[in-house]
Amino acid sequence: MENIVWHEHHVTKEDREKIKNQKGCVLWFTGLSGSGKSTIANTLEERLNQMGYHTYLLDGDNIRTGLNRGLGFSQSDREENIRRVAEVSKLFTDAGIITLTAFISPFIKERKRAKEIIGEDHFIEIFIDTPFEECAKRDPKGLYKKALNGEIKEFTGLDSPYEAPTHPDIHIKTLEESIPTAVEKIIFYLKERGILC
Ligand code: ADX
Repeated sequence: MENIVWHEHHVTKEDREKIKNQKGCVLWFTGLSGSGKSTIANTLEERLNQMGYHTYLLDGDNIRTGLNRGLGFSQSDREENIRRVAEVSKLFTDAGIITLTAFISPFIKERKRAKEIIGEDHFIEIFIDTPFEECAKRDPKGLYKKALNGEIKEFTGLDSPYEAPTHPDIHIKTLEESIPTAVEKIIFYLKERGILC
């Protein structure tokens, strides 16, 4: 970028983290619409907050009403959606915050790019694995019914692909694991990784 010069800050990520007694990172939830990403991320955030950690949750439906208003569900709009979320998450991570993101983020390439933007040491991929049929059965927002009736185009899992992670850091199978079990599994992982000091 021409005539743009990066400005080094005096206060570093480590300085900010020390005050908070935690490591800034991104917990990147991926999975189909209705798979349970937001529900698990919300419960986890509540638990971390009660434990005294500083968190922030970026959620697909909410971000699409503000920062990413105007982006649709074509492949290129989804890519831009994820790119912006990755850039924002990078800033939150630098602020020393445990950042939770809940976006379908259906493409392997885009999640890889998000990992590159954020930095692989700070990116934790959490696959909320719920089969399409189960999501369609739960249908918490009534969107599967509409999509199956042809009222929504480019719906993930139907006429737009979902590329499941092959090696997620944490794999939650919601048909087998309850929400509290999933939350404890993630907390255990964060302690093992030294993110929760
Ligand atoms: S992403 O694919 O770009 O990562 P994102 O997580 O931001 O998607 O938004 C997904 C949410 O938008 C879904 O949970 C659902 O509520 C809503 N939505 C509306 N249209 C679609 C669609 N065509 N495909 C998937 N989700 C949709």
